[in-house]
Amino acid sequence: MDVILSGKAKLAGVMGWPIDHSKSPRLHGYWLSHYGIDGTYVPLAVRPENLEVALRALPVLGFRGVNLTIPHKEQAMKIIDHKDPLARRVGAANTILVREDGSLEGRNTDVSGFSQNILAGGFIPPKEGFVATVLGAGGAARAVVVALQEMGAQEIRIVNRNQEKARALCEGAMGTNRFSVFSWEEAQKALAETHLLTNTTSLGMSGQPALVLDLRALPKQAFVTDIVYAPLETPLLAAAKQRGLSTVDGLGMLLYQAAPAFAAWFGKEPAVTPALRAHVLGDGRA
Ligand code: ATR
Repeated sequence: MDVILSGKAKLAGVMGWPIDHSKSPRLHGYWLSHYGIDGTYVPLAVRPENLEVALRALPVLGFRGVNLTIPHKEQAMKIIDHKDPLARRVGAANTILVREDGSLEGRNTDVSGFSQNILAGGFIPPKEGFVATVLGAGGAARAVVVALQEMGAQEIRIVNRNQEKARALCEGAMGTNRFSVFSWEEAQKALAETHLLTNTTSLGMSGQPALVLDLRALPKQAFVTDIVYAPLETPLLAAAKQRGLSTVDGLGMLLYQAAPAFAAWFGKEPAVTPALRAHVLGDGRA
């Protein structure tokens, strides 16, 4: 692919620690090349203790902004000058924009990334009595819970090992829905009547223990999604498919969260296409 860079090139990137496994440079690089934009998107390995210095350097270096990934999304909220309502609600920013006056604005596009991915995957949120079950209660779960609230979930069930953390998540969340908290031993109770089951834990990720959950209690019409995308077909999604349930993999969330950030920095609304997916996967699969 051609790299078109002039002295006026628009600059953006992703800060994380570690950063070497990030797929974001490949993803934004595809769009930059596809749309022939004079710009670049670089991986930035920033240690947690250097986050503030690195963020404050962005306007000095002429960057349009950056994405933030593990472990910076929450810490950045204490540093940046402006926060959008979703970033406030989640308590995390994944997208930073440098404003004209050099101040830093934090947005959360993980919320819309999650919803757009499952809607694109065919999930239709029920208008009445929408029950959503979330596995996990960490930072990723908070973004998913806000997305579910925005989609009209009436009941959100959290299954987590640490019950206190799950209760704190429910207490901190706004919205008019009902919440309930379950242990893994009680997960079968949570699955009954569930329309959408989402894994937000690291279980099932390459190198992590598999997520072993009996899905028999899920209704036949239920959708199952996983925010883990390496591997693309997690043991949870494989088990759901085996039961004939609809599934949506987690890669789309990465692609959809990236689109509004790209538009803000580079001035072009990019499309999420099968060709992009194949490029990000790097194995020719769409
Ligand atoms: P993230 O910000 O990516 O969500 P996190 O805040 O560390 O990461 O949250 C990880 C989630 O995965 C938590 O819900 C965690 O459960 P606990 O809150 O009980 O720690 C869950 N998780 C990670 N490893 C797990 C394991 N081996 N068994 C069960 N849950 C696990």
